[in-house]
Amino acid sequence: MTGGAPTRFSGRAASTARTRATLPGTRPAGTVDEAAAAGQVREMFGRIAPRYDLLNHLLSLGFDVAWRRRVARRFRNLLARPEARVLDLCCGTGDLALVLAQEAGAAGAKIVGADFARPMVERARGKSGKIAPGRRPVFIEADALALPFASESFDLLAAAFGFRNLVNYAAGLEEIRRVLRPGGEAAILEFAEPRGALWSRLFHFYFHRVLPGIGGLISGDAQAYGYLPASVSRYPDPEAVAERMRSAGFSGVQLERWMGGLVTLHTGRR
Ligand SMILES: C[S@@+](CC[C@H](N)C(=O)[O-])C[C@H]1O[C@@H](n2cnc3c(N)ncnc32)[C@H](O)[C@@H]1O
Repeated sequence: MTGGAPTRFSGRAASTARTRATLPGTRPAGTVDEAAAAGQVREMFGRIAPRYDLLNHLLSLGFDVAWRRRVARRFRNLLARPEARVLDLCCGTGDLALVLAQEAGAAGAKIVGADFARPMVERARGKSGKIAPGRRPVFIEADALALPFASESFDLLAAAFGFRNLVNYAAGLEEIRRVLRPGGEAAILEFAEPRGALWSRLFHFYFHRVLPGIGGLISGDAQAYGYLPASVSRYPDPEAVAERMRSAGFSGVQLERWMGGLVTLHTGRR
């Protein structure tokens, strides 16, 4: 557009334009635009895939398993429905998809996991080989910002510790909304900076000092484990994420804080 009167937006177009303008996504150090940031995020997660599960469980002291289970239990009724389709977005090595599949059982929902880092998807497929074929999630390599699914494909879209890594949160929310059926639910599990002076100080010490040290040592990739605390610090605060879900068109948006605010669950309905 060149010159002329400023474009006025109304209704949903206005809120979409506003959301896009105020919601940049993650930016690993040294990246200047979305394409470079996405390339670096994909490459970095691909590199750490072999040690990802070990470090996840170690660095979260095993709590990550309980957090994902809690999400699966929350959607128990939906997962029991045989016709329901569920997407684990940014599935990594597939742990959320696998607990969703466990909760769904053989007669329940069909689960798909999607991630753009091929080594993560390969590991997820390897892990799902251990469970009965009828209950296995399907894992695909796909970008969360350009999903290869028709609009209105899923009844539930859940993302565990993945949404924060998108290079454009507004575009991510739009894509999540697009692939959900009307009435379908989104669930975003993420880290956040906890509230409360003591907890917050402990968090800073652990996340910014201990975690990059141990993560870097075991994975041999100090950069990747330095990115984790930086990406959490950069992520919008939980109220802002809830507000942005509302302006992206989700209704009944709710925010839960777990572990003193270290972990948040945002839910909302298309
Ligand atoms: C911290 S891991 C979380 C993995 C898994 N959900 C879990 O609970 O452990 C973040 C994942 O998001 C993926 N990711 C980041 N941006 C993505 C994008 N645009 N499209 C698809 N996957 C993406 C990364 O490849 C990585 O596997």
